[in-house]
Amino acid sequence: MSTALGKTGEVPVNGASPEKERWTPLIVAFCCNWCSYAGGDLAGTSRMDYPANVKVIRMPCSSRINPLFILRAFQRGADGVLVAGCHPGDCHYTSGNYYVRRNLSLFRRLLEFSGIEPERFQVSWISASEGDKFAGVMQSLTEEIKALGPNGKWRDSRWQSVE
Ligand code: FES
Repeated sequence: MSTALGKTGEVPVNGASPEKERWTPLIVAFCCNWCSYAGGDLAGTSRMDYPANVKVIRMPCSSRINPLFILRAFQRGADGVLVAGCHPGDCHYTSGNYYVRRNLSLFRRLLEFSGIEPERFQVSWISASEGDKFAGVMQSLTEEIKALGPNGKWRDSRWQSVE
């Protein structure tokens, strides 16, 4: 028997506390300048909704991502991290995203080994014409991270105030 009354009912959905319902995760999205960041721009100029809790960091190419950037984001309070770049074969620098795809698949295993849920780190290929995909990825990522709850791994308590 289900006791869920929905978002406006008194009984929290799936037993979640009201605090967890209100909590919004902090998500850091590293986006390549030529495709994913432009896709985010298109989402904005097309007035598509995507969550405001996503902090976008513009990178020249997804291959510029150093795994230490991702660890540092988790350390400074991120609950989820996204790396977004051009579709494979479309990289402005020819093959940068092939390198990052290989590197980050290995890095994902390291994150799992260290106890971070794999859903907290995602990679997506978003072109400059895919504003709707950009908004959709940000929304689904936010929902997935919200379901997981706050990230406690790697967090450095000295950076609690950074948002
Ligand atoms: S320029 Fe976009 S992934 Fe390389």
